[in-house]
Amino acid sequence: MADVLSEFAVMVLLAIYYIIPAYVANGLAVVTGGGKPIDLGRYFRDGRRIFGDGKTIRGFIGGVLCGFLAGIIQMIIAPYLNGFIQQLIIVYDFNKVISVQSQLIIYTTPLRAFLLALGGLTGDLIGSFIKRRLNLERGRPAPLIDQLDFICFALLFGYFITPISVEYIIILIVLTPVIHLIANIIAYYLKLKSVPW
Ligand code: CTP
Ligand code: MG
Repeated sequence: MADVLSEFAVMVLLAIYYIIPAYVANGLAVVTGGGKPIDLGRYFRDGRRIFGDGKTIRGFIGGVLCGFLAGIIQMIIAPYLNGFIQQLIIVYDFNKVISVQSQLIIYTTPLRAFLLALGGLTGDLIGSFIKRRLNLERGRPAPLIDQLDFICFALLFGYFITPISVEYIIILIVLTPVIHLIANIIAYYLKLKSVPW
């Protein structure tokens, strides 16, 4: 039982580790954002903004850059992290699958880091596009869209480079709304965001 639990714990950590460039991109867009909106203030044919003032060029580029840099740091620490995970695998006698997946996840590439970050912010943009079509003003909450838009597209973009197994995808889709909510509440109290979602 303890082994099953510890195997699951390692999988959760690996899943979160995998998606870090997307989390960083999404989170740091809030910090680097400001200035010209991506849609340049233009309207869609339904008379509402294409993306709205919450999606800025600086936020997008700054976010992708920060997510990419997070991936580069992951590349540097990969050998150390791998040593640690391999030890856990031996100690707990985990199955071979987790071993193969852990290699796939730990040894990232610049292209994967870039795609995860780009995918994350592309999803974020698509989420805002959908929100405007649903007549939700910038900053209004849209449950599930707000929490899952970026993760779905990050997973999709990343999948071209690293086809992680479905367990990891499920873990991330279930866990991300929770992490997103906690992160936004913290950002709200740090006065980085005006609303806690
Ligand atoms: N941000 C940005 N550019 C981006 C993404 C985010 O400048 N490409 C910044 C904006 O200041 C935005 C904040 O990060 O207000 C929070 O992002 P998010 O919650 O995704 O945007 P909202 O303002 O809530 O707008 P929307 O309703 O479109 O989600
Ligand atoms: Mg929002």
